[in-house]
Amino acid sequence: MVSYKDLGLSSTREMFKKAMAGKYAVPAYNFNNMEQIQAIMIACVETQSPVIIQVSSGARKYANQILLRYMAQGAVEMMKDIAKEKGLKEIPICLHLDHGDTFELAKSCIDHGFSSVMIDGSHHSFEDNIALTKKVVEYAHQFDVTVEGELGVLAGIEDDVVAAESTYTHPAEVIEFVKKTGVDSLAISIGTSHGANKFKPEQCTKNAEGVYVPPALKFDILEEIEKKIPGFPIVLHGASSVPAEAVKMINANGGALKDTIGIPEEQLRKASKSAVCKVNIDSDGRLWMTAAIRKHFADKPGDFDPRQYLGPARLALIAMYKHKNENVLGSAGKV
Ligand code: G3H
Ligand code: 13P
Ligand code: ZN
Repeated sequence: MVSYKDLGLSSTREMFKKAMAGKYAVPAYNFNNMEQIQAIMIACVETQSPVIIQVSSGARKYANQILLRYMAQGAVEMMKDIAKEKGLKEIPICLHLDHGDTFELAKSCIDHGFSSVMIDGSHHSFEDNIALTKKVVEYAHQFDVTVEGELGVLAGIEDDVVAAESTYTHPAEVIEFVKKTGVDSLAISIGTSHGANKFKPEQCTKNAEGVYVPPALKFDILEEIEKKIPGFPIVLHGASSVPAEAVKMINANGGALKDTIGIPEEQLRKASKSAVCKVNIDSDGRLWMTAAIRKHFADKPGDFDPRQYLGPARLALIAMYKHKNENVLGSAGKV
């Protein structure tokens, strides 16, 4: 058993208390490799933002669960080093399991130093979701690890689970779910979805610049939920904005992405000022990394050292994470 406290990690408890009071959201960025974790650390220390680094089941399969855990430990040391060098404050870092689907997986992460876990029972019946989430909470709380549950289903791919349609969270269910499970935060479904193709063009209108504008998030549902469980931390998954510039750069350099439509940043800005305390962003990082790498190869087809093309990809990620912290989530300067 390794306690996250001995690794210099933080749970989400304090982070969310401050985010709720300060009306901002803590970024939750997924990582699978070295350049992503480096970029997250550099951007979050330099913007002085708390951060949640999250590991999906897909990441565990791709990169090896043990390596990812040690990368997170290394990230804490890297953060201290950058902070010292730049005369900045150290930032709180939470290591979180993204979309955990079984008690055994959540337990294994808790036992190996994760400071927060998500147990995603959203594909089960309400009763089974409660039972599974409660079981994880009872185990996690013995070690002061925080737990995120989910009510409502997001369309798109959540690790190995693919949902064609979203089912919005029913506000009527949240009080019972939160009370019976003892969960620390709740992921809800109000119109976001996973991946880079969140809306079909026919669901959107076009603005003057010819950019697709998707239907607004269901802020009415969010408000109803906030009324039912005042002051309770809410989580938004599937919150990538799918920046048109990144998609353009990919397609201008040999890519073939189409119908890529995300959540407009103004809507995430609005959500971050509400009870939404955690915003999950993965796809935007994938897009910017791909854009930078494609452009690099288009400009310099003779390059073959991974550092030559992963370096610019890392720079693109740093710029993106800083932008999110400063201009979208409002988490910059909150440590
Ligand atoms: O929820 C989905 C995250 O973007 C993780 O995706 O399972 O492909 O790593 P992944
Ligand atoms: P995006 O696919 O919108 O980046 O969402 C990521 C996510 O919710 C991870 O859990
Ligand atoms: Zn998610």
